[in-house]
Amino acid sequence: SGPVVYQAEDATISQGAAESNHDGYTGTGFVNYDNVTGSYVEWTVNAPVAGPVTLELRYANGTTVNRPMAIAVNGGTAVNRDFNATGNWDTWQTSTLTVNLTQGANKIRATATTANGGPNVDRISI
Ligand code: GCU
Ligand code: CA
Ligand code: CA
Repeated sequence: SGPVVYQAEDATISQGAAESNHDGYTGTGFVNYDNVTGSYVEWTVNAPVAGPVTLELRYANGTTVNRPMAIAVNGGTAVNRDFNATGNWDTWQTSTLTVNLTQGANKIRATATTANGGPNVDRISI
């Protein structure tokens, strides 16, 4: 079966917008985080069994400055990740981390931790 894709533009967006004015995204676009601390995207993902899974997040950062985000599952302790420059807004990279899911529905939230906001986010895959 392979990874399941959850598009950012279909997720819950707080202080951001679904856009498609740069190339290379999948689905119908990406989320442009507002350039503020606290902007986030929250996905609801299903886990058939409880346990650790590999989460891949696809993003673009067309600036020269890191756009770190805190990634939390079901409101638990967040893990901070760097989302460094990808060269331009049309160039996408992936970042992977391991998250622990409970059986059934899980909320995965990626929140910008600086006033620059997050990178543009295309999707997660689990
Ligand atoms: C540009 C770009 C956006 C990006 C923004 C930013 O406006 O077009 O897609 O989100 O820069 O700096 O966050
Ligand atoms: Ca932005
Ligand atoms: Ca997308």
